[in-house]
Amino acid sequence: MASKEQVNRNALPSHVAVIMDGNGRWAQKHGKQRVFGHQNGVVSVRDTVEAAAELGIKYLTLYAFSTENWNRPQEEVDALMMLLVHSIKSEMESLQKNKVSLGIIGDTEKMPENVRDELYSAIDETKNNTGLKLILALSYSGRWEILNAVRKLARDIKNKDLDESDLSFEHFENYLETSKIPDPELLIRTSGEFRISNFLLWQIAYTELYFTDVLWPDFRKADFFDAIVDYQSRERRFGKISAQIKVNKENEE
Ligand code: FPP
Repeated sequence: MASKEQVNRNALPSHVAVIMDGNGRWAQKHGKQRVFGHQNGVVSVRDTVEAAAELGIKYLTLYAFSTENWNRPQEEVDALMMLLVHSIKSEMESLQKNKVSLGIIGDTEKMPENVRDELYSAIDETKNNTGLKLILALSYSGRWEILNAVRKLARDIKNKDLDESDLSFEHFENYLETSKIPDPELLIRTSGEFRISNFLLWQIAYTELYFTDVLWPDFRKADFFDAIVDYQSRERRFGKISAQIKVNKENEE
């Protein structure tokens, strides 16, 4: 298990994204209802946010509720929404203390009004915090985001606010939920599943993927540090060859 001291502070990813998975299986393992897993998952959220803030990571995006999660039994959806509201209230002090500002990506129009109100007031209350930006992906899916971006873009072309010939990758990114947020350098998925599950499809083109067997409710700071240390051992080539990367690095030093 890695400790904070093993992390190289000069080579941190600026954005880490996490697919928090395994709450249901964790609950089952403990002979409890699925909701018990989600409740304990909140402790892991707190630990992960604190670990990221302590290291000085700039952006942390958590996949808290996918578009597909709306298809879960109503009872579980309601419990997750309640847990979200409750957690935001109870964690506010800790967010302020750690200088964390909150953001959301996703189809928030679909969220119940009370949840939306709570989220937007938390975003407002934390907007001047200068530390970690915690982004919750809620009612989010990568395909929804891309399609939604295309809709907005088509409207701009129709209204002559955008000319087709001006469209570049950078320009397209302005239409995504994550505009102004750098792509994640590292994506962590817990619970031993090797899938992306419709998360940040556009943004993870060059992201390093880290999979761990740990079920989300058991995920602690040391597991987060493990993922960062593992990331730091990798060579990121962006389609280039190893020698080119070494030359670039030497020039930077
Ligand atoms: C995946 O486990 C987890 C979720 C769909 C919900 C994640 C939510 C939380 C951790 C709690 C609230 C979040 C915040 C940000 C306060 P799963 O249910 O798919 O597990 P399984 O694959 O074992 O069934």
